[in-house]
Parts: sequence; structure tokens; C-alpha cells
Amino acid sequence: MKIVIGMLATLFIVVLAAIGVAYSGLYDVSARSSHSSIVGWYLSTTARVAIKRRAVDLDVPDLDDEALLLAGINDYEAMCVGCHGAPGKSPGPIGRGLNPPAPDLQKSATKMSTAELFWVTKNGIKMTGMPAWGATHDDNAIWPVIAFTSSLPSLDELGYQNLFDSAAGHGHHSDAPSSARHETAESAEQSADKVHLHEDGLTHVHETPKEVVTTEEHDHGTHEH
Ligand code: HEC
Repeated sequence: MKIVIGMLATLFIVVLAAIGVAYSGLYDVSARSSHSSIVGWYLSTTARVAIKRRAVDLDVPDLDDEALLLAGINDYEAMCVGCHGAPGKSPGPIGRGLNPPAPDLQKSATKMSTAELFWVTKNGIKMTGMPAWGATHDDNAIWPVIAFTSSLPSLDELGYQNLFDSAAGHGHHSDAPSSARHETAESAEQSADKVHLHEDGLTHVHETPKEVVTTEEHDHGTHEH
């Protein structure tokens, strides 16, 4: 009996201490500093195992279709590049400020099954910047970007650009990324224009958040999927 009372008292103190930390304002919630390694491990392990568990029963349709791939790369440009980047493309300003960071999906796609990629894309991940695309897209509108994402490991910068150039007019985001199609050719000149040396001696890079604007401005409510 004494042991049970002792355990309950300890639990009470732990809960009280946790509430105390919340109300003290001492915990650093800034996205500029990373989680401690224990909190980081706890959160990423929880997410990884939960995703595996939930994706296991998913039925994956046949994604081996050129049309899905072409629609998928346009969706990827409009919906994902701003945070995750792509072969030869860095993430935009939103992606660079995320904590936890949005991982390189070329690597993720080698470790995750197609069902897991789909589950995360559809449902997002709580307490991170990963949105639930299922809130605005039905499953059929998500599968093309999954067909493309699972093929990412086989693409280098040139392969990505060639596929992107040949994808004009495909999918429900076919119109969005036209300005990005010739980014490679223009990039050197544009980068030079974007960099300014300020009086404080620091170099500031001002970018038009092309990928992010397309993500934000995209009005999914008006789309039929
Ligand atoms: C607003 C930023 C943002 C956008 C846009 C975004 N993601 Fe993410 N994504 C994240 C972040 C942040 C994580 C990391 C979450 C974590 O650490 O648990 C993530 C994680 C993922 C993961 C898990 C990867 C891994 O290795 O665990 C997949 C898969 C993924 N995103 C797919 C996509 C796809 C596909 C799109 C486009 C349809 C997309 N994301 C758009 C921010 C974003």
C-alpha cells in the first residue's frame, strides 16, 4: 500500500512540475533552436512508428503511369518544393525557417514505403510544418504527387528539370509553376539581382517566394479533383 501511495505522490509531483514548466514561460518555444536530443528522439520516434502502423493497411493503386508522373511533378512544384526542395533546388524562405526541418524527400523516399509517403502527405504531422494535404485534396488528387515522390531517388538535377519541362499542361497544378520552368537558365542572373550588401555589412538575400506563393495562393476550394 505504501508503495502505491509513494508512486501516486511521485506522479502528482511530476504532473505538477510539468504544469509549472508550462506556466513559467521558461521553455524555449522558438523555432530557431532545436529540440533537445531526448525530446527530438521522442517526437521523431513517435511519428515514425505511428506512420508505419497506420500506413500498413493502405491499398496502393498502380502508380506506374507516365501521366501520373507528369501531373505529379507539377503538383510537387506547387505543393512541396517550397519546404522540401528538389534535386538542384533549395527550399524557399518558409522551408528554411522550419523546425523540425522539412527533410530531403529524395532520401525519405528510399526509406519509406509508398503507402507511408501517401499517409504522411494526406494526413500531415502534428506540431511540425507538414500540412495535411487531405484537408484540401481527395485521395485521387494526392496519388500523382506520390507517384512522383517515390521516383525522386532516381532523379538528378538535370533529370528533374527535363521531366518538369515535359510536364507542361499535366495535372491540376499544370498552370502554377510556369515561371519556374526556366529557372536554371536564369538563376545566375537572378541570384545576382537578389543579393544586396546592407550598411550593416551583412549580405541579405531577398527572394520572391515563388514556390510558397503558389502554395498559398492556390485556392483548392475552387478545384474539382
Ligand atoms: C509548409 C512546409 C511543408 C510543405 C509545403 C510540405 N511539407 Fe512535407 N514535411 C514538412 C516538415 C516540416 C516535415 C518534417 C516533419 C517531422 O519532422 O516529423 C515534413 C515531412 C514530410 C514527409 C516525411 C519524411 C520523412 O523522412 O519522415 C513526407 C513524406 C512529406 N513531408 C511529404 C510532403 C509532400 C509530398 C509535400 C507536397 C505535397 C509536402 N510534404 C509539403 C513540411 C512541409
